[in-house]
Amino acid sequence: MLKIVLLGTGNLATHLFKAFSETKTVNVVQVFGRNSAGLTFFEEKVDTTDDPGKLQKADIYVCAVSDDAIELVAQYPPQEDSIVVHCSGAVGLSALPKEIKRGVFYPLQSFTKGSQVDFSQVPVCVEAEKQEVLDILLALGNSISETCIPIDSDQRKALHLAAVFANNFTNHLLHRASVICEEYNLPFSLLKPLIGETINKLDSLSPLEAQTGPARRGDKDTQQEHMKLISDMQGREIYRILSQAIGDTYGN
Ligand SMILES: NC(=O)c1ccc[n+]([C@@H]2O[C@H](COP(=O)([O-])OP(=O)(O)OC[C@H]3O[C@@H](n4cnc5c(N)ncnc54)[C@H](OP(=O)(O)O)[C@@H]3O)[C@@H](O)[C@H]2O)c1
Repeated sequence: MLKIVLLGTGNLATHLFKAFSETKTVNVVQVFGRNSAGLTFFEEKVDTTDDPGKLQKADIYVCAVSDDAIELVAQYPPQEDSIVVHCSGAVGLSALPKEIKRGVFYPLQSFTKGSQVDFSQVPVCVEAEKQEVLDILLALGNSISETCIPIDSDQRKALHLAAVFANNFTNHLLHRASVICEEYNLPFSLLKPLIGETINKLDSLSPLEAQTGPARRGDKDTQQEHMKLISDMQGREIYRILSQAIGDTYGN
């Protein structure tokens, strides 16, 4: 049984706690949070502390804290034989003290406290300098996910960048679509089958093959009409840049 101390009480820590609690091979022995309000969710389920000096002994300390806090929080675990990992897609392994058994445990999904996530479907990307550490992190990942793979820091940063395009930017465009619907008194739900198909198509086509629309076809008149309908300058700029990028991709 792998003993885990979770450091952090935010979105990811909450989801990791739930996922680890459902395994037979991992035991979360303690959750650390810097403020007692954040610890409330965990208090009846596991030992908690807001004192970095009172961390229990564990095989792995999982720093699920904000990227900017990783370097500080990674100093808290007792400097023994344990493994210390962070969970960020954007932070290098070097943010952790080099004299310890360090690693990265990066689950590629968007986690929010209130939302349900089936962790078995979340790819977990792990990194470590020593093979013995990597093997333990692979076992940890495989205990909650069907997909756990080793990648290095450069690959993880690239994956994080790709995820920003795929998830964050797409979600912002969906927000803009919902605002346009609102402006013209249309229910956003009308777009949901289209949004679903955008994703479903990727089971059989690459994104390059799947593209449709006025910019792909080179319909300049339609694009000009759209520009007139967009009420804010930033929205027009986003439309122009994306249409240009699509046009360039297909030689229009
Ligand atoms: N959420 C995701 O979708 C996701 C996905 C993959 C990876 N990650 C990674 O997971 C990590 C945590 O992200 P999150 O979304 O869970 O963030 P979050 O919900 O904002 O939670 C951040 C946690 O870090 C704690 N914290 C911040 N500064 C601290 C400090 N100086 N000392 C001690 N604790 C501190 C916060 O404590 P307070 O509550 O007191 O502020 C909170 O418990 C990040 O490295 C992120 O890149 C997140």
